[in-house]
Amino acid sequence: MAKTRTSFACQNCGAISQKWQGKCDACGEWNSMSEEGNPTGIGAQAARGARKGRVFPLQGLAGENQSPPRIMTGIGELDRLTGGGFVPGSVLLLGGEPGIGKSTLLIQACATLANQGHRVVYISGEEAVAQVRLRAERLGLAKSPVELAAETSVEDIVTTLMQGRAPSLVVIDSIQTMWTEMVESTPGTVTQVRGSAQALIRYAKTSGATVILVGHVTKDGQIAGPRVVEHMVDAVVSFEGDGGHHFRILRAVKNRFGPTDEIGVFEMTGGGLSEVANPSALFLAGRDAASPGAAVFAGMEGTRPVLVEVQALVAPTALGTPRRAVVGWDPARLSMVVAVLEAQAGLRLGQHDIYLNVAGGLRINEPAADLAAAAALVSSLTGAQLPPETVYFGEVALSGSVRPVVHAGLRMKEAAKLGFRAAVAPPSQQEGEKMPLSVTSCAHIATLVADIAAAGAQSKRSGPRAV
Ligand code: TYD
Ligand code: MG
Repeated sequence: MAKTRTSFACQNCGAISQKWQGKCDACGEWNSMSEEGNPTGIGAQAARGARKGRVFPLQGLAGENQSPPRIMTGIGELDRLTGGGFVPGSVLLLGGEPGIGKSTLLIQACATLANQGHRVVYISGEEAVAQVRLRAERLGLAKSPVELAAETSVEDIVTTLMQGRAPSLVVIDSIQTMWTEMVESTPGTVTQVRGSAQALIRYAKTSGATVILVGHVTKDGQIAGPRVVEHMVDAVVSFEGDGGHHFRILRAVKNRFGPTDEIGVFEMTGGGLSEVANPSALFLAGRDAASPGAAVFAGMEGTRPVLVEVQALVAPTALGTPRRAVVGWDPARLSMVVAVLEAQAGLRLGQHDIYLNVAGGLRINEPAADLAAAAALVSSLTGAQLPPETVYFGEVALSGSVRPVVHAGLRMKEAAKLGFRAAVAPPSQQEGEKMPLSVTSCAHIATLVADIAAAGAQSKRSGPRAV
């Protein structure tokens, strides 16, 4: 009989190594390697002698296509994110920090689907049935016909689900608590997580049920262990937000059946998660337009325009190396904008601490935020308040020129809807068209600096600022 080879798997990233190492070569994590059985059983199969392959027909790209049928939950923000509802037979991985509201969101989705007459099964590996019931009761969902169980054995779960009518939706909360007899290692290890996910994916494909796997994330935002699962599932969705704010953002990281740049916005209330239909109003709530250092950025999240306030604080440093701190934006992008302001607009920021914050806890990924960040920085440095009722967007190049961005029209329409009157934007291709706002086109970052400084000087002349 062939000797079973042991290997070592990194519990952080899933990398496999033949010998034990103190540090994982793939992700650099220390003390994360642990011994695993043969993970795939490929060795054992090879030892039995591989079977001869069968010939299958190859096909062209053109052909009959049907768009997959969808199951709408009726929770608009969730349906938008999945691309119009769950696809039967697909598997979705929902990642998020503990306590962010994954279980709450899923029990709400389960209840709405069950109320529509779908068979919905919720398997909790973390909480007892009574705890899940208690939460449902608090959310006013106790009457909906969701089928519950607290189980962790994948074989038992699949066998149970095979009984009776095929469910439309199965929620597994969470994949880290599941274990399968098919692999020999302790629950919670990468091998177990992968093995369990494989079995559940196979179940989804054969039964046509949509399966949602909940995955915990580590402190650096990675879905722990199940990073290996990300490749296997059809969609990866992350649920973000921070403890200090009530709203939560659902973001599609990968989606085989829909867009990946969409977000869904929810608010955590006493009665569970409620949808936020107008996120811009939420992000701009409590804005202090009269203080210097705040610029409103007209951004896009997927197909939806979102307005947020970018706040900057520029102050002389007491340290040898000035501090640069960013919340909600890419620190490398801030360094670039600061360097461009110094090199192309002649600002002196080398002796200043710089703090940049995206208000409300949203994370911006767009380069279009460059101009708003630059405006906030210049405003804070000069003490000149930016014109209220003005939004900013545009990408700043290393040369200092301001480059056009996509969806200028949508951004401005959203700003107009929220009562803004003007926009500072790159010279646009559609200049002739009628715009909902009065547009000041800004071709170079030096123009922006000069305009803000001039406005500041004028306001000082026309009347002293309140002290
Ligand atoms: P939960 O869904 O258990 O988080 P996860 O499954 O991601 O770990 O959410 C737990 C948090 O949500 C908890 O801190 C309390 C809060 N919460 C509310 O504020 N309102 C509610 O109606 C519910 C059910 C939870
Ligand atoms: Mg939970």
